[in-house]
Amino acid sequence: MTKTLSTYEYLQCSLTGDKFSNDIPRRLSPSSEKPLLARYDLEKAKETMTKESLLSRRNDMWKYEEILPVLDDNNIVSLGEGNTPLMRMNNLSNVLDIKNLYVKDESNNPTGSFKARGLSAAISKAKEFGIKGIVMPSAGNAAGAMSAYAAKSKIAANVFMPKDAPLANKMECIAFGANVELVDGFISDAGKASAIAAEKYDLFDISTLKEPFRVEGKKTMGLEIVEQLGWQVPDVIIYPTGGGTGIVGIWKAINELEKMGLVNDKKPKMVCVQAEGCSPLVDAFEKNEEYAVPFENPKTLAAGMRVPLAVGDFIIFNILKESKGTAIRINDAEMLEGVSLLSKEEGIFAAPEGGAVLRATMKLRENGFIEKSDKVVVVNTGSAYKYLDAMQKTFWND
Ligand SMILES: Cc1ncc(COP(=O)(O)O)c(C=O)c1O
Repeated sequence: MTKTLSTYEYLQCSLTGDKFSNDIPRRLSPSSEKPLLARYDLEKAKETMTKESLLSRRNDMWKYEEILPVLDDNNIVSLGEGNTPLMRMNNLSNVLDIKNLYVKDESNNPTGSFKARGLSAAISKAKEFGIKGIVMPSAGNAAGAMSAYAAKSKIAANVFMPKDAPLANKMECIAFGANVELVDGFISDAGKASAIAAEKYDLFDISTLKEPFRVEGKKTMGLEIVEQLGWQVPDVIIYPTGGGTGIVGIWKAINELEKMGLVNDKKPKMVCVQAEGCSPLVDAFEKNEEYAVPFENPKTLAAGMRVPLAVGDFIIFNILKESKGTAIRINDAEMLEGVSLLSKEEGIFAAPEGGAVLRATMKLRENGFIEKSDKVVVVNTGSAYKYLDAMQKTFWND
C-alpha cells in the first residue's frame, strides 16, 4: 500500500449530524435515509495542503489528496480529470455588463463533462472497497463517465438510462463496455430499475448523493475555482442543477478551505439554475419549502437538468439561503441563445446546461441580483458535442 495524504475520518449524516465509520461501503445515512458527507481532519490536512505545496503536485483533481477520501494511491482511478480552465470572458463581459466574468469550462474533462470528477472519486473508492460490480441510473453524462472509469478499473458497469438520453451518451457507454438498459420514462424511473438490479445482482448502486463520494469529486471544482482566482472566493457562482451534487460539492469545498485557513470567511452567492420544463428546486425554493416535490412530466433538452427530484434538496436550499443566493428557471429557447452566445463570443461550444447558466447570468444582471463590479463564475458543465442530436435543429439545417 502506498498511502495517500488523505485525512478522511468518517461519514456524517447531512440531516442529523450522526457519525458513521469509513471502513465499509455505505450509501444513504442509516439514521435518516439522507445523504452522507465525508469529513476530514482539516487541522492535519492544512499542514501539508498549502498554497505552495499544491504548485508542484500532479496536474489533476487528485492533487487535493488531503481532502479526498482515497487512502491507497494504487486505488486512484484517473483519466486526467479536473484542472479545467477558468477563463475570463472578455467579450461577454461587455455584452452582459459584468466587469469580472469567468467561465469554468468543464467540457475539457475526460468524457466531456464535470461528471468525470465525481465518478473518478466514486469508482476509486469502489476499487478501494474491492467492489466488483456497480450500477447507476443516469440522464446521460454520468453514465458515460461511469462507464469510462469502470473500464479503466475493470469493475463491471451497469447503466439505466431514459430512452431519450442523448445518443452520444448511449454510444459511449456501449463503447466503454458497460451493460446498458434503456428505460421508458424519466431518470426517476431509471432509478427504480437500477435499485431493483442492485438488489437482485448484488451490485453497488452509485446514484448521485446516495453514495458519499461523487460529491467529493465534484467538490474539486470549487477548490480549483478558488485556487485559479489566486485564492480568492468569487462573489457569485452560477450552476446548472439537476441532482444538485455540484452545488453541494462547491459549497463544501469553500467551507473546507475556510476551515483550513486557505481563504477568509467570504462566501459566494450560490445560484441554482433549472429548466422551465423541470424546476422542482426553484419551485420549492420560491415557496420556502423544506423539501421539493417531484416535478410531473419533466421536459427539457438539457438532459442533465431533467431530474424530477433531488435527494439532497434540503441541503441545496440551506446553501442558497446561507449564501444569500437564488434559484432561477430558463426555458429551452433561452438555453440555446446562451449556447450561441458562448460559441460566437467566447469560442466555447457548450452543453445546453452551460447555455442555461449564461442566460441566467444575463437575467440576474438585468434584475440587479448581479452587480457590474461582481466577480462572477459561470460553470459550463459539459460539451455541446454530447448533444448534437438535441441541438441539430438550431445549428444545422439539413
Ligand atoms: C451537463 C450537465 N450539467 C449539469 C448536470 C446536473 O448536475 P448536478 O447533478 O450536479 O446538479 C448534469 C447531470 O446530469 C449534466 O450532465
